[in-house]
Amino acid sequence: MPTPKLRPDIDQLPAYKAGQRPAERDDITTYKVSSNENPFDPLPGVVEAIARAAADTHRYPDPFSRRLVDALSEHFDVDPDRIALGTGSVAICGQIIFAACAPGDEVMYPWRSFESYPIWTQMASAKSVKVPLLPDERHDLEGMLAAITDRTRVIFICTPNNPTGEAVTRTEIIDFLDRAPSDVIVVIDEAYVEFSSSADKADGIDISRSYDNVIALRTFSKAYGLASLRVGFAVANPVVAEALRKTALPFGVSSIAEEAAIESLHREVELFERVEHLVQERDRVWNAFAELGYPIHPSHANFVWLRLGDQALEFTAACEEEGITIRPFAGEGVRISIAETPANDRVIEIAKKFKLSLQ
Ligand SMILES: Cc1ncc(COP(=O)(O)O)c(C=O)c1O
Repeated sequence: MPTPKLRPDIDQLPAYKAGQRPAERDDITTYKVSSNENPFDPLPGVVEAIARAAADTHRYPDPFSRRLVDALSEHFDVDPDRIALGTGSVAICGQIIFAACAPGDEVMYPWRSFESYPIWTQMASAKSVKVPLLPDERHDLEGMLAAITDRTRVIFICTPNNPTGEAVTRTEIIDFLDRAPSDVIVVIDEAYVEFSSSADKADGIDISRSYDNVIALRTFSKAYGLASLRVGFAVANPVVAEALRKTALPFGVSSIAEEAAIESLHREVELFERVEHLVQERDRVWNAFAELGYPIHPSHANFVWLRLGDQALEFTAACEEEGITIRPFAGEGVRISIAETPANDRVIEIAKKFKLSLQ
């Protein structure tokens, strides 16, 4: 029997490489530090809100998630028509590309960066334009400006950047926007913005008030700790936000996710206490690596990045042996999420024992 026909480039679609889970062990507690998750339980009141919403599971959710849109509108002081939701900000990356690109149009992003950008771009039959990061892991904004063509439709700025943790400053973004064509969408992907301690920190929501081509992209998965519920949001000009609603999965955001997100927005004090704790832990882990001579650049996220080159897989294996699962990028480096204190302690101990052979 002939195999059903699929699109010809299906084999070339890169698969999303999710962070692995460690196997359970009898001798030690194992830790997953491969997906930049929040080690804290959901914020107070959230599990109860989920339980209440769960009672209505036999009903479809509100397709417009109006309660959450209103809560976001109030919390961030933006009009509801500037807000679009998605099943995680990863889905909104796709919504943006599908809303803006015809086949052959160009999507530009720094590389290495969030690995969903190339996947969505190819799914939309658009063309990826990857601009390598600078040697200090920062975005090459001059190189990005130079790479804009009349086919460029979407540019991603990922700050703090996944997986390298470096941030693009507000000054740099404003300069970029003032020099880029104003009819090209610039996405400021701020999945980790709450963890940023940059002195000149960019706030995409604020920037989007003055630039009609800017989309600020945020998620409830990281600082808010709702990764499993799949909810993210974009703030943009109303015409763009409406386009993102059109390319969204219908009924994508569940009532459970909606209620959990609303409750989480009300817990800002607890949220920032936890963020502060994780930032302190990140800086502790960062300092340990730096003192040991590892190649490391500042991180403004809830993870650190080590450009270990050929030793990336060896270091990953050393962590695995000690019950710690990190995220390797073969031949490039490793990303280690900041987790529970005992997990962070163990990462530091592994780093001390590992034979670093870089010059
Ligand atoms: C830079 C960046 N953007 C967006 C996302 C998507 O997060 P979510 O779909 O959970 O909202 C991630 C997740 O790892 C990320 O690292």
